[in-house]
Amino acid sequence: MDYAVPGLAEADVADTPLSQFSKWLAEAQAAEVPEPNAMSLATCGPDGPQVRVVLAKDVDPYGVTFYTNLDSVKAQDLAQDSRAAAVFAWLAQYRQVRVRGPVVPLGRQVAASYFATRPRGAQIGAWASPQSQVIASREDLVERITEAEQRFPEDVPVPLPERWGGYRIKPTVVEFWQGQPSRLHDRIRFESLQAEARLDDASAWGLERLAP
Ligand SMILES: Cc1cc2nc3c(=O)[nH]c(=O)nc-3n(C[C@H](O)[C@H](O)[C@H](O)COP(=O)(O)O)c2cc1C
Repeated sequence: MDYAVPGLAEADVADTPLSQFSKWLAEAQAAEVPEPNAMSLATCGPDGPQVRVVLAKDVDPYGVTFYTNLDSVKAQDLAQDSRAAAVFAWLAQYRQVRVRGPVVPLGRQVAASYFATRPRGAQIGAWASPQSQVIASREDLVERITEAEQRFPEDVPVPLPERWGGYRIKPTVVEFWQGQPSRLHDRIRFESLQAEARLDDASAWGLERLAP
């Protein structure tokens, strides 16, 4: 496929990874890309890498936030090795954004605030589903859901499960890829020049072009 879309010139790249990311995310949303905040998240496990899709709930100066079950494979991987990588793929625009960096757990308070905003069905699901564990059948899952529903009556807020929470990827590298005609794609990489580089601090990042 020949990508006849505007390229990504150094002169047009935003001066921080956060503003460039926000611009592309807004464009993906405007184009009604399904689940524009979905990212494939890779972790390092004892048997090698694992990758799965999660939703980025926030991308702010401090990093990329996602939520999950704290006993899941990804959580176990991260407990052993905090390094992770993620990619957002907005294929309708011939774009991807790759991030790499260490992952830190979010505090319980932050997770509880976010959990409280989730639809009740998702809250019940978080209590009922032993994510990534083998279960006997679909009926078994439905039974667990019914039990959780009975445990938390309709008029009572569903509390944060003990084994559910959030993480933040603190990127040290953010790469923007824009498909271009004749495979002359644009790749612009921000690399952090200092520890704890804020994604909205232009002085904290160096910019390079990579061969496609
Ligand atoms: C579009 C999409 C969004 C998803 N969002 C999440 C999410 O935000 N958190 C999560 O734990 N799993 C999410 N999942 C499910 C994960 O891909 C995965 O199946 C699950 O987290 C278990 O992964 P693990 O066994 O590697 O820990 C999502 C899947 C899809 C396809």
